[in-house]
Amino acid sequence: MADTDAPAPRTGGSGRCGQNAAVPFRLLQLTDLHLYADPERRLLGQNTRRTLESVLSLAQTRHWPPDAIVLTGDLVHDEQPAAYRFLRSRFDGLGIPYHCIPGNHDRLDLLVGHLDRSAASALRLVPAGAWDLLLLDSTVPAEEGGHLDERVLAGLAAHAAADRRRPTLVFLHHHLAPLGSRWIDTMQVDNGPAALAALASHPDLSAVICGHVHQDAEQRQAGLRLLATPSTCVQFLPGSRDFALDPLTPGYRWLELHPDGRLDTGVERTDAYPEPFTPATEGY
Ligand SMILES: [Fe+2]
Repeated sequence: MADTDAPAPRTGGSGRCGQNAAVPFRLLQLTDLHLYADPERRLLGQNTRRTLESVLSLAQTRHWPPDAIVLTGDLVHDEQPAAYRFLRSRFDGLGIPYHCIPGNHDRLDLLVGHLDRSAASALRLVPAGAWDLLLLDSTVPAEEGGHLDERVLAGLAAHAAADRRRPTLVFLHHHLAPLGSRWIDTMQVDNGPAALAALASHPDLSAVICGHVHQDAEQRQAGLRLLATPSTCVQFLPGSRDFALDPLTPGYRWLELHPDGRLDTGVERTDAYPEPFTPATEGY
């Protein structure tokens, strides 16, 4: 999948420091890694370290090197410090800046303590060439569903009012609006309408991008472009009333953030699972 969003040209910052201002900032999103401390453990029949490696190999063939990587939650499945340390070691070794936000399966204290200290902030601004990335923590401790609290909504409003005139992307773990899949829609951001209203007031917001739903999706809500990205491990069947796996393969999202405000983005998937796909009817 590849598509283009072309809002009106904007003035703004230059491209990457010391580089041609016309060069886009190249970003990758990897999400829902569901890693374990034990390198041999599997989630629904798949070794999640191997599926991650298959996705990284594909990215290194198609979209490498990016200028940064965003990891949008459910990074670790078993709440083990060693799994976060593994992830840190693996991504430090890539030599690419990376930024993490938590998902409902993560332990924020472990993520912050062993992987990415900046994830302690519920809303953080990461400059990306001529663009701003806003990384939101939508998690609620011990809950599967999400919520954007008043501090985050106030931070969004402040960024919207600051008149930076920089095109902006928002990343968070949970989806903001129903996708038409009953079981996963019970686990979206529970104050989605308030969050959508806060985001819709932003004059320079290009898209809101989530993980969590383990599928490639795009919708329009409140005038906003909402994107969801496949997991680096197992995929959920779109439109399914109850939990069901989709045999589609793992993937990632690539993004090109042009200095004039254009966004090019798409999803790439691997050719096959590293191990045979096994349909599952039980949740995870
Ligand atoms: Fe997940």
